Amino acid sequence: MRITGRTRLAGIMGWPVAHSRSPALHNFWLDEQGIDGAYLPLPVRPEQLEQALRALPVLGFRGCNLTIPHKQMALSIVDRVEPLARRIGAINTVIVAADGSLEGRNTDVFGFRESLRESAPDWDPVAGSAVVLGAGGAARAVVAALIEAGVGEIRLVNRTQARAERVAEDLEARPSRMSIHPWSARNAALENAGLLVNTTSLGMTGEPELAIDLARLPRQAVVADIVYVPLETALLAAARQRGHHAVDGLGMLLHQGRPGFEAWFGAPARVTRELRAAVVTTLAAPR
Ligand code: ATR
Repeated sequence: MRITGRTRLAGIMGWPVAHSRSPALHNFWLDEQGIDGAYLPLPVRPEQLEQALRALPVLGFRGCNLTIPHKQMALSIVDRVEPLARRIGAINTVIVAADGSLEGRNTDVFGFRESLRESAPDWDPVAGSAVVLGAGGAARAVVAALIEAGVGEIRLVNRTQARAERVAEDLEARPSRMSIHPWSARNAALENAGLLVNTTSLGMTGEPELAIDLARLPRQAVVADIVYVPLETALLAAARQRGHHAVDGLGMLLHQGRPGFEAWFGAPARVTRELRAAVVTTLAAPR
């Protein structure tokens, strides 16, 4: 990559930000297409997020992504927020408009939907219930994607019940579509399900394992994990062993980057085997 006087700029704001794989993702796309652009890690303290976001147009940035802990706070700073992102309560992508104003989007919904479409094309949203483990920001994006896909019934399973209730309140389109289940009922909730998604941090390197018994999950059900370090979580390994179609968390990460890239750099962002391989290499590297 060569930086010139015309290099288009974007980046990711986080605190810390060094763990993020987004620079590897976006710079792969820039290199692949020979675009005069750069995507930078931007370590921004939470108390300076507003200053940093307002500096984007001043410094000529096209926009940025947001990661922990900025996704919620950024929503109240930007000038416009798409309605879906407002209901989710978080944005992960900012686009600088021609007049310097900031537009906030949540592309995690798109990322999860596209990842499922790519990795489990035969999954039928109306064929069975979907079980979602967790009720954090990632769960909100997954639930929104499932509602959009037309899933008939969503079972939300979370350790803290009040949090799951809030997700249902904020996102539910039809009252009868979502049910809340205690964490202790996670095995039973798998009965007749067509999809299981783990959105908790359990199973991630450095976190406790996700203890769940898949015995009641029908064989044709798809199992997805949004954890991508490690890529093959114990949940996905157990699912594959039982013959389930397993979807890893990397697809969501790669696909969520597409809308931002296309808006900032005006070029298509394709998820290919080569891209996957390049980002997988960074997963193995120490952070
Ligand atoms: P994110 O925004 O990335 O989804 P989060 O908001 O911290 O992250 O959410 C993490 C999810 O993992 C939550 O659903 C959390 O459950 P609580 O709502 O009860 O906190 C879940 N989680 C984390 N550790 C857990 C554990 N040991 N057992 C069960 N659930 C756990």
